[in-house]
Amino acid sequence: MKFYYTENLNGELSLPGDKSISHRAVMFASMAEGESIIKNCSNAEDVKSTISCFRKLGVEIQEKENLLIIKGKGFKNFSRPEEKLYAGNSGTTARLMSGILCAQNFESIITGDESLSKRPMKRIVEPLNMMGANITASDTGTLPLIIKPSKNLHTIKYKLKVASAQVKSALILAALHLEDESIIIEQIPSRNHTEKLLGLKTENTEEGTLIYVSKKNYPKNFEITVPSDISTASFFIVLGLLSKNSNILIKNVSLNETRTGILEILNSMGAKITIEDEIIQNGEKRGNIRVKSSELRNTEIPEEIIPNIIDEIPILSVAGVFAEGKFRVTNAKELRVKESDRIKALCENYKRAGLKVVEYEDGFEVDGKIVEGNLTFESYGDHRIAMAYAVMSMLLKNGGQINNFDCVSISNPDFLAQLQCLGYNSKI
Ligand code: S3P
Repeated sequence: MKFYYTENLNGELSLPGDKSISHRAVMFASMAEGESIIKNCSNAEDVKSTISCFRKLGVEIQEKENLLIIKGKGFKNFSRPEEKLYAGNSGTTARLMSGILCAQNFESIITGDESLSKRPMKRIVEPLNMMGANITASDTGTLPLIIKPSKNLHTIKYKLKVASAQVKSALILAALHLEDESIIIEQIPSRNHTEKLLGLKTENTEEGTLIYVSKKNYPKNFEITVPSDISTASFFIVLGLLSKNSNILIKNVSLNETRTGILEILNSMGAKITIEDEIIQNGEKRGNIRVKSSELRNTEIPEEIIPNIIDEIPILSVAGVFAEGKFRVTNAKELRVKESDRIKALCENYKRAGLKVVEYEDGFEVDGKIVEGNLTFESYGDHRIAMAYAVMSMLLKNGGQINNFDCVSISNPDFLAQLQCLGYNSKI
């Protein structure tokens, strides 16, 4: 797919619902007894994978325009799936669902696509088995996961070894099936949508944040309007900042403090970003984000903020290569085990643009002047890499070509239509 140089982006954007919140809303509504309603649920392929898995577990899920109506099964009442549960490309589906399935009275198997089948699952298998679950991964610690019923699921006090919301949530979901209280300890904050949606008690101590969970937190049926996804918005934010004469408003975006690190970093780089009409709904902050063309300069990225911006590093690095000074990120080893090895993907693509790149095990730095020409970028089948280089291409006088761009549908199938809504012309 070719992207052309663009300026003068103007107007308002409404983006699909937050992917992380949508996954959880579908899962919790499926677990709860009775009817739940989810408005503005994400239309991402990843969330479709979650919906399809829970249908296989016997949940009735009806899709009506911008609405999902879910008839949940109630406590430990899912049906035994007749086939394997296919999580597609979605780590959140596979990892969170494992926490739920290890408490059921039937065997299930989770599989996924080629990319998900390479991603580490030991990080959930080990602590879930410490809780008495009966889960096995392949010899390489990857999918398929085979989950057998356990007679001995018990509470846990567990300090997370990786700053991962998916691992944290898998343990919380298993612990929801136990009368007594489990305590999960998190030293570096990761996204807290699970805690917020379930209304869990948390306590900040010297050891870290303690998260308390037991059966009394098991979800009840609910109604939710999912705010728009800040990770999806960040591609438009960076484009709006760097394209000339632009002024865009992105409406009703989730401003949960475990996700807004991208705004903090961009603001410290000199970005003209303002928040308008902030409110709290369903326990989550949300508001409109106004973005105006800005001159950016690179800044240090602190270690503690990495889990908060982990999905935004590809697009943040694009902002970095157009900003004054050198872009550098470290302490981000997790990028190697995302939908692609994102450190490698970013370094290879910046080299194609003639930039000076130094690759580290846990990050990279990039500097120099872009050599424009007939540039082609690789998406590596990774939606966030594809969108990051689409934005980069729209900032280059000669534009750029993205190979295997279709993968954007993993998080945002309507990326192109949304660009057009801001005045981007794809038929130059
Ligand atoms: C997610 C958590 C993060 C993030 C992913 C979504 C979630 O992964 O990268 O896109 O919804 O819990 P990790 O928990 O593996 O860091």
